[in-house]
Amino acid sequence: MFFTSPWMLLSLFLHLPSLDADAARAGGEHRDATEPIRLPGCVPIHAHDLPSSMLADRSSATYAGLLAMARDAARADGVLVNTFRELEPAIGDGADGLKLPPVHAVGPLIWTRPVAMDRDHECLSWLNQQPRGSVVYVSFGSGGTLTWQQTAELALGLELSQHRFIWAIKGPDQDTSSGAFFGTANSRGEEEGMDFLPEGFIERTRGVGLLVPSWAPQTSILGHASIGCFLTHCGWNSTLESVSNGVPMIAWPLYAEQKMNAAMMEVQAKVAIRINVGNERFIMNEEIANTIKRVMKGEEAEMLKMRIGELKDKAVYALSKGCSILAQVTHVWKSTLQPSPKY
Ligand SMILES: *[C@@H]1O[C@H](CO)[C@@H](O)[C@H](O)[C@H]1NC(C)=O
Repeated sequence: MFFTSPWMLLSLFLHLPSLDADAARAGGEHRDATEPIRLPGCVPIHAHDLPSSMLADRSSATYAGLLAMARDAARADGVLVNTFRELEPAIGDGADGLKLPPVHAVGPLIWTRPVAMDRDHECLSWLNQQPRGSVVYVSFGSGGTLTWQQTAELALGLELSQHRFIWAIKGPDQDTSSGAFFGTANSRGEEEGMDFLPEGFIERTRGVGLLVPSWAPQTSILGHASIGCFLTHCGWNSTLESVSNGVPMIAWPLYAEQKMNAAMMEVQAKVAIRINVGNERFIMNEEIANTIKRVMKGEEAEMLKMRIGELKDKAVYALSKGCSILAQVTHVWKSTLQPSPKY
């Protein structure tokens, strides 16, 4: 099995049957738990940071599907995980007696394109003109959306921070934070314009900020020397891309396991600062601006930069190790699998 998310989520899956039995005994739902879930070597997971499929009623079909998937995962002959040990030191740790299939870290696998392919993109020539480490890159990934009120507030926060920014901007969605994930009709495309932004925002931030509608060449942006931090939803791809490029993060998680990733990055890896979205509350522009300032400048910013610089170097080394593990696995497959009989 190839697991594209972090070990912490896989560990949660593998523990789910026993967590479920505990919940059944207590006669409760996971969302009502007052104590965080403590998996070996991972940051404690508070109920409000759990993926929504785990917060669903235990009697629901969504939850039953999750539980079935968790039981299947435990039966795999082995699991390759897109992570690395220096980022998740507890990978494969069944310290609490849980029987695990063999687990191997093969990451950080990220999709990089030849830089030449993106060189002519408007945002990269714009980045070339900005001072080193001066730009905040803002993106909620391919699926993430905000309400229009929150999108407008984010715009005001960026403006108030007085830092340069590139914003891979999506149309708002009032109903869900993953409005673009399945390309729902609610999330509006660029053709409908940017009328959800505050009045005068585009004029006031001209030259300081660059809006890139819907898609941006992310790995090239994160690899550019002008980038100072990444305001991200903490999807695992984005997280690994930020780490691999040594860019400190502002974590603004939205859905799936993103809140767990954000906690891991802030508390364990110490390469991010979280915007508090625990209670799905509205985030004010002052808070957005202050968090940007903390990550861009000052003592805290220096610490983050140092930590993620170290992690970046380890990521490069880990990837070469991951490749040799993959090679070993392929070797085992080749030597154990019988060639299909010819009829
Ligand atoms: C993560 O990256 C891989 C490789 O580019 C891609 O196939 C996958 O769709 C990405 N996942 C998400 C959720 O965007």
